[in-house]
Amino acid sequence: MFFGKGDCSRCHTVSGEGGFLGPDLTEYGATASATAIRDEIVRSPRAPARGYRRAVITTANGERIEGLIRNEDNFSIQLQSHDGTFHFAKKAELQNFERLDSSLMPTTYREQLNDTELNDLVSYLLKTPDRSKPVNGRKKEEDWE
Ligand code: HEC
Repeated sequence: MFFGKGDCSRCHTVSGEGGFLGPDLTEYGATASATAIRDEIVRSPRAPARGYRRAVITTANGERIEGLIRNEDNFSIQLQSHDGTFHFAKKAELQNFERLDSSLMPTTYREQLNDTELNDLVSYLLKTPDRSKPVNGRKKEEDWE
């Protein structure tokens, strides 16, 4: 489910495997109840936390970049586009800076996954990290598509 049909690993890492756009979920199950994890997966609408908010910027030379606001202050912004590249920009030099309210995480899992599939995902996240297995190297899924 996590690496297959649910497609969670496109954005989330567990034990060193998966994507970087969402939070690493390796330790997530250690602090959350089964109900809380399930609610979080099907949550809609989502209000992304700091570090996961989205924006589209148009740079001084007209390049349009969409990504996650990884860091921001009054004068500058650090955007990570979906291919993983970091873009640093001074706000005053941008042609356009538009914030997007929605999360990158799909809000359709309630419809996409049936109860058994959701429960399987929840049990999987409750069981990570698997302390009986050695931790993998930080292998990252670079491929957004
Ligand atoms: C296209 C990228 C993407 C996919 C696919 C995706 N997520 Fe997410 N997920 C995110 C992002 C970004 C966040 C952080 C912002 C937010 O909470 O909406 C997040 C947040 C979460 C959180 C909350 C983590 C926390 O620390 O609060 C959980 C749990 C989660 N996702 C589980 C899943 C599961 C399980 C799947 C697969 C069924 C999945 N996600 C698929 C991008 C994604």
